[in-house]
Formats: sequence, structure tokens, C-alpha cells
Amino acid sequence: MNAPVEDPSVLAARSQLPGDPPPSGLTPEEFRAVAEAVRWAPSIHNSQPWRLRPLGDGLAIVEDLGRSLPVIDPFGRDRMISCGAALFNARVAMRALGHLPTVEILPDPAEPTLVGTVRSTGYRQPAPGDLAMHRSIPRRRTHRRVYRSHVIAEEDLLDLRQAVAAEGARLSVTEPAVRRHLVDLLRRAVRAQAEDAELRREVERWVRRDAADAEAGDGIPLAALGTSPYPVDSLVHGGLAGVPDAEDIEAELARSTLLVISTRGDTPRDWVLAGTALERLLLAATAGGLVATFAQQALQDRAVRVEVTEVLGIWGHPQVLFRVGRALVEAPRTPRRPLEQLFE
Ligand SMILES: Cc1cc2nc3c(=O)[nH]c(=O)nc-3n(C[C@H](O)[C@H](O)[C@H](O)COP(=O)(O)O)c2cc1C
Repeated sequence: MNAPVEDPSVLAARSQLPGDPPPSGLTPEEFRAVAEAVRWAPSIHNSQPWRLRPLGDGLAIVEDLGRSLPVIDPFGRDRMISCGAALFNARVAMRALGHLPTVEILPDPAEPTLVGTVRSTGYRQPAPGDLAMHRSIPRRRTHRRVYRSHVIAEEDLLDLRQAVAAEGARLSVTEPAVRRHLVDLLRRAVRAQAEDAELRREVERWVRRDAADAEAGDGIPLAALGTSPYPVDSLVHGGLAGVPDAEDIEAELARSTLLVISTRGDTPRDWVLAGTALERLLLAATAGGLVATFAQQALQDRAVRVEVTEVLGIWGHPQVLFRVGRALVEAPRTPRRPLEQLFE
């Protein structure tokens, strides 16, 4: 017997009880709760590149190409990874509401921007794990500040591995011995990005430098960037001169564990899967008191990405490069667009 529903927000939004006849659909309150979960998914430069389409018994996530970053992400890989994370949050919210969701990825070849659908096929009392994951959605945030010196315990690492494997992707841990090589590759990628004026203009369009700017509810506020030597900060703060020293990056990385999510193939479907795996891992990490940030630049540069694959000797294609550790101080929450703007 499953544990009873504990989360009052879930109870408030819930329309029927387990054992009731199959659902005819989500109530408006339930739909809102699912949309709210989507809203807080991580996305490349907080571009939130999705639109939501109500389906009656669930919702569809559609790519919003008007929110793409064509220079830094020409194939839309990071955009699809972001949409995969959003799709995962919708699934988590449906489960927490007591629905049994089915997910279809890229269900319609005639509509390639339709990333996926999440539909209720019945009811099931949420398991404690479903509720815990749901609670982690608003608590998760990208942490670009200094990390506490920390090696992830084997047990925690196993949880993270399982989270990624459950979505059909793979998690690799980078050994300290290859870290220096990886840092050199990361710096090479950042340097190339810093030399690309068009790319820097694109990044700049997603940085919110003052409070009025931040009201847009998208992009990255300066306050979220922190001061430690992360590549995206350097692009924003100093261009080429701001590319951090290898020693500084390495010292920072040594205080956390550098991880890679990879997939067998490298198609848009694999990117969506990588995004669902990423969000599942991030929510598990949040529940375990861990924080994460990305070093995606090394995978955005095509040539560097090939070298990263070789250096790490990983299975398949690397999709997300990120670090996980423990925070010294809490990171600020990055704003989101109003819910109403997300609907088609
Ligand atoms: C596919 C993807 C790539 C990202 N790449 C970077 C990156 O290279 N550097 C970085 O600092 N943050 C990166 N982020 C984190 C986003 O900037 C972050 O999710 C967004 O600003 C929202 O903030 P939050 O995660 O704190 O909610 C990435 C996120 C995703 C999903």
C-alpha cells in the first residue's frame, strides 16, 4: 500500500481519488499545477524555449523557435535538452497529482517542433518519491557560486546514476586524472566563443543587467552569475581577457564532481532524452542537498565536443557537462515568465 498523499498543494489541486473511473481530463487547477512545474525547468540561458498546448488529458510541449540561440546552439541541441527537462517536470507534476502519465517524445513527424506530450491514462496514488521529486522542482537552481570542498559519496552517486539510467541515458564521472585535459578543452571552447563577436552579442541579449531588465522574466540576471571563474561569467564580464586561468577553473572543479550525461544516438530524440535524464538527476540531487552548474561550452564547440568524447572515453555522445557538489551559500532564484505567456 502506498503512503497517503502528504503534500497539501497536491491535495488542493486533486480532482478525483485513486480508484475513481478513468479520467476524462485534467481540471483547470491541475493543468495550472502541471504548467507551473514546466515553468521552473532549467533552460539554456533561461530562454524557456517552450510553449504549452492543453490537451484535455494532459499537455504538449512545443519548441518556441522565437526563443532560440542560433549562434551558440545552431542545431537546437541545448534547446531540445531544455524542452526535455520541461517535459520531465510535467510528468513529475502529473504523478504528484495522482495521475498515471504516459509520455510520447516527438510524436508527430508532421510537426517537428512538437517536442512531446504527457497524458493521463489513469490514476495512481503518488509514491513518496514522486512527491519528493515534485517538491524539488521549485527548490532546484543552477549554482554558479563557490562550492564547498566535497567529494560526492558513492551512495549519492549511485542515486544520480540511476536517475539518468532510468531515462535511457548514461552518467559518467570524470576522473581527476583527465580533469586537467578537460579544463584545457573547456578553455579552448570559451576562448573561441569569446573571440566570436556575434556569439557574444547573442549571449548579451540573454543577460539581464538591471532590475527593469529582469522584469522580462527570462534570461540570466547578473546576480545569478556569481563571481567564481565559470566560463559563462567570463564571457559576460570580460570577453577574452576574462577567460579564466586553467588553475582557477581546475581549483574550482576540484571542489566538486564533474559529470557527463551521454546518449547512444545524437538525434533530436536523444537530446530530449538527455534533458529528461538531466532534470531527473537535478531533482534527485536537490533532494539530496546537492547543487549543480553547467560547463556546456565544451560541448557547444563541435571540434572540442569530439575531443571531449575521446578524452573521457565515454559511451555514445556527450550531451551535458556539469558539476555537482555542495553549496557554501544559497544561490538566488532566476525569474521566469508569467504562466500566461507560456500557452499557445
Ligand atoms: C541545456 C542547458 C545548457 C546550459 N548551459 C549553461 C552554461 O553553459 N553555463 C551556465 O552557467 N548555465 C547553463 N545552463 C543553466 C541555465 O542558465 C539555467 O537553467 C537558467 O538560467 C535558469 O536558472 P535555474 O537553473 O537556476 O532555474 C544551462 C541549462 C541548460 C538546460
